[in-house]
Amino acid sequence: PRPGMPLLRQRRRELRGHIVDGKLDAVRRQHSLGKLTARERLALLLDEDSFLELEPYRRHQATGPGLAANRPHTDGVVTGSGTIDGRRVFVYAQDFTLFGGSLGEAHAAKIQKVLDLAVANGAPVIALNDSGGARIQEGVLALNGYGGIFRRQVEASGVIPQISVILGPCAGGAAYSPALADFTFMVRDTARMYLTGPDVVEAVTGRRVSHEELGGADVHGSHSGVATVVHDDEHECLADVRHLVSLLPSNYLEQPPVTAPTGAVEDYRPKLAEIVPSEPNQPYDMRDVFAEIADDEEFFELHAGWARNVLCALARVDGRVVGLVGNQPVVFAGVLDGPASQKAARFVRFCDAFGIPLVSLVDVPGFLPGVEQERGGIIRQGAQLLHAYCEATVPRIQVIVRKAYGGAYIVMDSRSIGCDLSLAWPTNEIAVMGAEGAVNVLHRRDLAAAADPAALRARLVAEYTEEYLNPQYAAERGLVDDIIDPAETRAAIARGLAMLREKRKPGPARKHGNLPI
Ligand code: COA
Repeated sequence: PRPGMPLLRQRRRELRGHIVDGKLDAVRRQHSLGKLTARERLALLLDEDSFLELEPYRRHQATGPGLAANRPHTDGVVTGSGTIDGRRVFVYAQDFTLFGGSLGEAHAAKIQKVLDLAVANGAPVIALNDSGGARIQEGVLALNGYGGIFRRQVEASGVIPQISVILGPCAGGAAYSPALADFTFMVRDTARMYLTGPDVVEAVTGRRVSHEELGGADVHGSHSGVATVVHDDEHECLADVRHLVSLLPSNYLEQPPVTAPTGAVEDYRPKLAEIVPSEPNQPYDMRDVFAEIADDEEFFELHAGWARNVLCALARVDGRVVGLVGNQPVVFAGVLDGPASQKAARFVRFCDAFGIPLVSLVDVPGFLPGVEQERGGIIRQGAQLLHAYCEATVPRIQVIVRKAYGGAYIVMDSRSIGCDLSLAWPTNEIAVMGAEGAVNVLHRRDLAAAADPAALRARLVAEYTEEYLNPQYAAERGLVDDIIDPAETRAAIARGLAMLREKRKPGPARKHGNLPI
């Protein structure tokens, strides 16, 4: 044999043995917790036999107590690249069976290399997190490793899509890596994310909480908004990551995969008029409208459990990916509040960064009034959504499906803030406020002096409704481009998107805007 080959084969055997057999107890424990190993996860995530591993021999050079004699290859993270549906992605999977997946200098350097390669090759990066955090014995070098990862993630933001999948603990500073990603997936019962764990919380606040209560998937999927997608098990979760990747471009210069046109430009959808009641206060599920607009009635909803009064989803219309934003009348009547504004703002910015056209389906009574909202900074948060829409240069279509009032109308991609195409249904109410409120403000004195205030009020409300609460008023003034039959909505969106396909709009010269975060 060629010199060196027997040694190489022996090393490879050792490497595989080290990871699988040598750590059999740790692997059994991992499985008993309902968790897969790093390599099992990569096998589920990537196309068969597509994984190319980098730096499998890497090991730490630390000399601290307990570490010098324990130097497993990989250093607790499997890194490399593979394909999803034939498209290149870069990946890393932390291996909880080695040092609890904790991050030391070598571990961090491997992750940083993958991030650098992903950017250089214009391909998405997917992180499978399962880690005890900074490797305590490597001290400040571990923290330095995190900093290098965060800085690279920020530099990669808006260049390549970043997906973070939490499949175990993700504590302390480590939690900032998923927070900087574009999408964060979590699995119930095993994933947990917090800056300080239950013991520290008890020591500082005196309150005993479980891991799940503090940082479980449902906490972040429903309350904090840190998790974008939540699943019951890892298989389902990793299959869903593959689905998401199929809707994303590889980088900001490319477009998401285009599928065959579906004839949407001719589509007639009479069900739309049945789904949306003409009475302004009757609830309906905006998801049903999304389904009528999307190809195959299929859309990928983001943050489905958080800020549910607004919906954000990726879908295809006539084979091309679009971002759908919609007010959700079944939750708080579809009002915009702080979390809803932030959820939609982040989605709008993602779509804009990656060239995905925006379709906004508007049915909004206004912003949520209240002391809590004002104190909570709804002005600041609403301004984030406003800022996000105003600066978006991708094709933007607004469809008002029922009502659009006041500031919330402006913010939901109105003509004034730069939508390219605004469509209305004949039954729309587009105005500063509803008829009752308007009459109270405009005619308070007349009503107080009237012999029959009820009759006067009814007449004034009818007059206001006739004059202002219809799309004609806005259409005659160029604020709505066309009034369409609801059944033509999908076709009108598809035609609008085709019209706007080559849209280019350079931004103003400046370093960057100052998003009101
Ligand atoms: N640094 C070094 N080793 C770590 C580690 C860390 N941050 N986190 C876990 N490990 C090691 C454990 O010592 C253990 O090693 P062993 O198998 O040689 O005994 C192994 O990883 C598994 O950890 P264990 O604690 O047995 O697993 P668990 O499932 O019971 O608990 C955690 C997991 C993450 C909750 C727990 O390990 C923990 O609290 N780790 C510290 C988290 C932290 O505060 N990190 C710093 C934040 S920046």
